Amino acid sequence: MAFDRRVFPKADLFDADYWRQCESWWLLVEDVRAGCCAFERDVDVTVKGERERAGCAYVATTGILPRFQGRGLGRLMKDWQIAWAFHNGFRRLVGVTRKSNRAMIRLNRSCGFREVRTIADYYADEAGLVMAIKLR
Ligand SMILES: CC(C)(COP(=O)(O)OP(=O)(O)OC[C@H]1O[C@@H](n2cnc3c(N)ncnc32)[C@H](O)[C@@H]1OP(=O)(O)O)[C@@H](O)C(=O)NCCC(=O)NCCS
Repeated sequence: MAFDRRVFPKADLFDADYWRQCESWWLLVEDVRAGCCAFERDVDVTVKGERERAGCAYVATTGILPRFQGRGLGRLMKDWQIAWAFHNGFRRLVGVTRKSNRAMIRLNRSCGFREVRTIADYYADEAGLVMAIKLR
């Protein structure tokens, strides 16, 4: 939670209960916590939001500290997320990003994710773009 406050706008922060539901991972650079991501297992994103779906892993968050951004760590973490999902037996990996988040959309596309749908009121002030990759 503390890490995400340094990476995301206030409106996008999760509460403690939600963090406990997630499986979260650090990306360490010489013992410094440079990145964090979190998954929910067997969850997909439908037009109505997150729903249980066997075989689908949901990336709840992906963040790199501002001072570490632009050095390839986001790509490393995204590639690792795909490997994590594949090796844990998932068929699909899905995430949602703000429509204006060009960096994340471009990174996702270059890692093989495709746009699935736009959800108009996903964020309080902006639409969310659902992106997914088929793994097997
Ligand atoms: C999105 C984020 C994870 C990318 O991490 P990063 O370490 O900066 O990214 P990388 O250096 O690995 O760059 C990987 C690719 O991301 C894209 N990218 C990164 N920064 C970008 C920018 N400012 N504008 C456009 N594309 C960008 C590019 O496709 C880049 O590949 P390229 O350099 O070959 O063009 C990072 O910027 C971040 O944590 N942002 C704030 C939190 C956030 O928005 N998370 C996503 C929520 S869904």
